[in-house]
Amino acid sequence: MLAPMDGYSDLPFRVLTRRLGSAMSITEFINAIDVVVGHPPHHDERLAYLEEERPLVYQVFDDEPARILQAALILEKHKPDIIDVNMGCPARTVANRGAGSGLLKNPQKIAEIFDLLTKSLSVPVTGKIRLGWDENSLNYLETARIIEEHGAAMLTVHGRHRKQGYQGNANWDAIAEIKQQLHIPVIGNGDVKRAEDIQKMINYTGCDAVMIGRAARFNPWIFSFLNREEVSQENVYETIQSQLKLNIGFYGEKRGMILFRKFIKGYLTPYAVHAETMYTLLTVEDVSRFNQLLNNIFTRKLAIIQENEEKF
Ligand SMILES: Cc1cc2nc3c(=O)[nH]c(=O)nc-3n(C[C@H](O)[C@H](O)[C@H](O)COP(=O)(O)O)c2cc1C
Repeated sequence: MLAPMDGYSDLPFRVLTRRLGSAMSITEFINAIDVVVGHPPHHDERLAYLEEERPLVYQVFDDEPARILQAALILEKHKPDIIDVNMGCPARTVANRGAGSGLLKNPQKIAEIFDLLTKSLSVPVTGKIRLGWDENSLNYLETARIIEEHGAAMLTVHGRHRKQGYQGNANWDAIAEIKQQLHIPVIGNGDVKRAEDIQKMINYTGCDAVMIGRAARFNPWIFSFLNREEVSQENVYETIQSQLKLNIGFYGEKRGMILFRKFIKGYLTPYAVHAETMYTLLTVEDVSRFNQLLNNIFTRKLAIIQENEEKF
């Protein structure tokens, strides 16, 4: 399944990846304060989803158990299938106030949050964790057990601690340890880069499902078990058109084009596209001009430079 990714796992990209084989849809994280206190612009976009995305998960973050409950009760009215608690975000603005991965420092608060949510909501409540705050506080087994004991229906584990950010390798051994200890389904996450890594992670960790984040931004076809070099030029073209259509339908032409830029760069990276053309594609706001350029590019047999995941 596609990982929740702020700035990426919006409605259009989730719909696209669901159609390509991702098992469920998880929103970008939603700030409980925005739900309860005041909505910033574009807040409603985060809550929007299509029926075809179900099972649909709202992911929420906060450090205040009572407020997270209040937010979850409001979110429940929008009829998600699951509400997920973020316990992994490493961003300072989130973690340093005790939310996201900041919760890992306070397992008692995690217990309180899961008690409150599982007793008050009618939808299942799940969690997503990292392995701990830093290398000296790898409390993932304790945290995972607490989450299960306090009613969670499923747990996703990103095999890194907070201090690592996205550096170093994800620790799949830790995911395997958690899977051995828990009875609820465990989703493995971290460093699934190629299609074959999906089965590798399942074999190595015993996890029940695999979550893919960064690699999907460059290769959404990974949910069809395809590596980037196995995707035909026609398929790339059609996928770009589908996502662009979804983007424009959801955000309108100008914002839809702008928000699509970060994807177009990834999709075209393997091809030898002239720098000037790429620049125009990444700056143009008019969809017909964009399509004209894209059609010009794709009527040629494109030279493939090489797969380069590291750029993303
Ligand atoms: C740009 C970006 C935004 C992210 N936003 C979220 C988020 O909103 N909620 C969350 O639980 N994780 C978030 N993550 C973490 C991913 O869900 C995932 O755990 C992480 O990228 C590791 O998986 P990967 O190696 O497949 O990328 C984000 C990651 C990236 C790169």
